[in-house]
Amino acid sequence: MTKLDSVLAQIDANFDDSLKRLFTFVGFKSVSTDPAYKDECKKAAEWLANELNGIGIDAKAHETIGHPMVMGHDSDTSEKPGPNVLFYGHYDVQPVDPVELWDDDPFTAKIFEKDGVKMIFGRGSSDDKGQVLTFVEACRAYKEVHGALPINVSILVEGEEESASPSLLPFLNKHKEELSKDLALVCDTTMWDADTPAITTMLRGLMAQEVVITAANRDLHSGAYGGPAANPVRILAKVLADIHDDNGRVTIPGFYDGVEELTPEMKAQWDALPYDAEGFLAEVGLSIPAGETGYSVYEQLNARPTCEFNGIIGGYTGEGFKTVIASKASAKISCRLVGKQDPEAIRANMQAFIRARVPADCMVEFIDHGDAPGHSLSPDFPPLKKGAQALKDEWGKETILSGMGGSIPIVGEFKEILGMDSMMIGYALENDNIHSPNEKYNLESYHRGIRSWARVLAALAEE
Ligand code: BES
Ligand code: MN
Ligand code: MN
Repeated sequence: MTKLDSVLAQIDANFDDSLKRLFTFVGFKSVSTDPAYKDECKKAAEWLANELNGIGIDAKAHETIGHPMVMGHDSDTSEKPGPNVLFYGHYDVQPVDPVELWDDDPFTAKIFEKDGVKMIFGRGSSDDKGQVLTFVEACRAYKEVHGALPINVSILVEGEEESASPSLLPFLNKHKEELSKDLALVCDTTMWDADTPAITTMLRGLMAQEVVITAANRDLHSGAYGGPAANPVRILAKVLADIHDDNGRVTIPGFYDGVEELTPEMKAQWDALPYDAEGFLAEVGLSIPAGETGYSVYEQLNARPTCEFNGIIGGYTGEGFKTVIASKASAKISCRLVGKQDPEAIRANMQAFIRARVPADCMVEFIDHGDAPGHSLSPDFPPLKKGAQALKDEWGKETILSGMGGSIPIVGEFKEILGMDSMMIGYALENDNIHSPNEKYNLESYHRGIRSWARVLAALAEE
């Protein structure tokens, strides 16, 4: 039996205990965006730090201006081969509402079976508590069997990923030395499908902006004032409509600065992927791609920037009808960014674009939400080969180098502040209902995710 085989056997033998720990972890209501759950976030962080200490990783839940950051380093500091790695995940979760759409209590994890597939039910089971524990449990098995990990490992698990990470920058800057490793291993993404592993080499960044337009000093009768009085809903609608042209391109000046076209190799690889664009849209009741013309659905989703309106508020929205001209109208806007697009420059250009369209007697205010640059990894990045082979060994299928339309803000900051690239490996599935009611993580994702990390750690240690 090789060293790795005995670790895999240990993982299998103790899987029930690994599952119990995930159930406990899901039990903390660590909703980061809602101050009512501040204490639950703290408890989740402390529980995790305690688990890490239990397996010989010196960890602490560090207080921040927001929720605690769990940071730990292997207590075994002996010389080891391979890169020094920093593992990253998040212990915070999205709110559960609408809670009445859940089949059961979101924070009481349980196993259920659907179409012959066993699944772990609960908020955070997939995003990202289950994924975090895949790594922790792999380390546990290694330590139990061999007394040591094959490479040097540090861990950072944050509690603000789902709420745009206000503490992130100060924390990264403060602990720059301690966190700068050769490579980050990030577990917060999906597989290609239920039996095909993937490493995400392209991830979009984010720039989130709220805009509030105020016209008259109070709500007005739309007959008594309509015509001469500026209507902020009309102004806002016009501003938003101006942001895209007929080809789905964003018209804000400078928006595409830093966007890179796919290299011919990447494009060829993506064009060859077994991607079902029609099925992707059909599953949500759509059939006509609405992104930039001239790009495939997969490219629109993973390699092109977007500007989306996530919410519009203004005027009377209650039952029945009210003839009113509102005083205020507002919108929540988020841009997904790629390549070297600069979030701050885009924020400034967007604000100027909006200001220029608001009449002189009206007021516009901006509320800045988070931002983070995108991240992409060259297909030649050496650890990729080892990671891809290790995943292939576990899942029996070639690993796909994929893109991901969502954002993990820290990944761009790791590169910018710490100069560190991220290898993003995750075992979640597109149908895990992350951020939605009835979130789940397949039992197999959890079990084979743990086994996969054991293999990746072993592979990285090899010359
Ligand atoms: N794990 C997700 C990112 C993700 C989404 C990966 C879909 C793979 C598939 C992450 O927790 C997330 O939800 N990110 C937010 C960040 C935002 C709240 C700052 C996002 O992408 O909207
Ligand atoms: Mn996540
Ligand atoms: Mn999420």
